[in-house]
Amino acid sequence: MAAEDQASKLRELMRSSRTARTIAVASGKGGVGKSNVAMNLSILLSAAGNRVALVDADLGLANLDVLANVAVRANLSHVIAGSHTLEQIIIDLPSGVQLIPGASGLAKLADLSEFQRAQLLRSLGHLEADNDVIVVDCSAGLGPDVMSFACGADHIMVVTTPEPTAVTDGYAVVKAITQRRYGGHVSLLVNMATNRHEARLTHQRIATVARQFLGQRIFDAGYILADPKVPEAVRKREPFVLAYPRCSASRCLAALAARLRSGESLVGQQQGFFRRVANWFA
Ligand SMILES: Nc1ncnc2c1ncn2[C@@H]1O[C@H](COP(=O)(O)OP(=O)(O)OP(=O)(O)O)[C@@H](O)[C@H]1O
Ligand SMILES: [Mg+2]
Repeated sequence: MAAEDQASKLRELMRSSRTARTIAVASGKGGVGKSNVAMNLSILLSAAGNRVALVDADLGLANLDVLANVAVRANLSHVIAGSHTLEQIIIDLPSGVQLIPGASGLAKLADLSEFQRAQLLRSLGHLEADNDVIVVDCSAGLGPDVMSFACGADHIMVVTTPEPTAVTDGYAVVKAITQRRYGGHVSLLVNMATNRHEARLTHQRIATVARQFLGQRIFDAGYILADPKVPEAVRKREPFVLAYPRCSASRCLAALAARLRSGESLVGQQQGFFRRVANWFA
């Protein structure tokens, strides 16, 4: 076969192979429950038969390893430094989730040299071939790292609590995403809600303003009730869906996982996630 034919066959193959679907978990305010949501949602999606990679993209204060109670020998900073490959830092959690540990105190993505950034994103890109879903736990706020990771995803799930300060900051994230002309799916998850009514009001507050002033549609990712079992599980260093599968927070999250599996929000895109992240810096 001529080299040109071969190349076009290969391109066709690449086009038809769907890349993993990526969900970025983001928030304006810190401490609203992103890492707990990312970890426990990953576990539920994995239990449902998906191959799931969970990336700790909180490059300042990585802590998914603490939540999962695993010892990290090497992390993303080692991949950037070139001393380890991505395969060498992946931790296979008992739940089947592949954890990619973040790096505490890692230089910001924007501060890395072009070469280092390309290196990092290329190696993370390998994850897409081997997984159905990639869940990215972002750091809080509107920094360039968060925005580039989030805007590369197929779906950005903004987590807020019903507190007015979290709501205001959650809206700021939606606004920043919209200003970057994000074309994917945006949803809002209300965590630590007292009841369903409060969660619905919180969702409406953000969704209405986003529609009116930004023309941005916000899907309803549902809510998770405030549940003392969550901090209890964190103290035991066990994901709450495993420690307390029947607690109210676990039930709420199971409903979300079921919706994600059946909904279009998990449909992947043709261009890989990490390639899109790289494009944001181009
Ligand atoms: N549904 C819930 N009910 C009660 N407590 C919760 C709930 N969700 C999270 N928490 C508690 O909130 C705290 C913060 O959670 P988590 O670390 O997941 O937030 P985060 O958004 O990732 O924070 P950061 O911005 O620092 O990364 C934890 O101590 C956790 O126990
Ligand atoms: Mg976190």
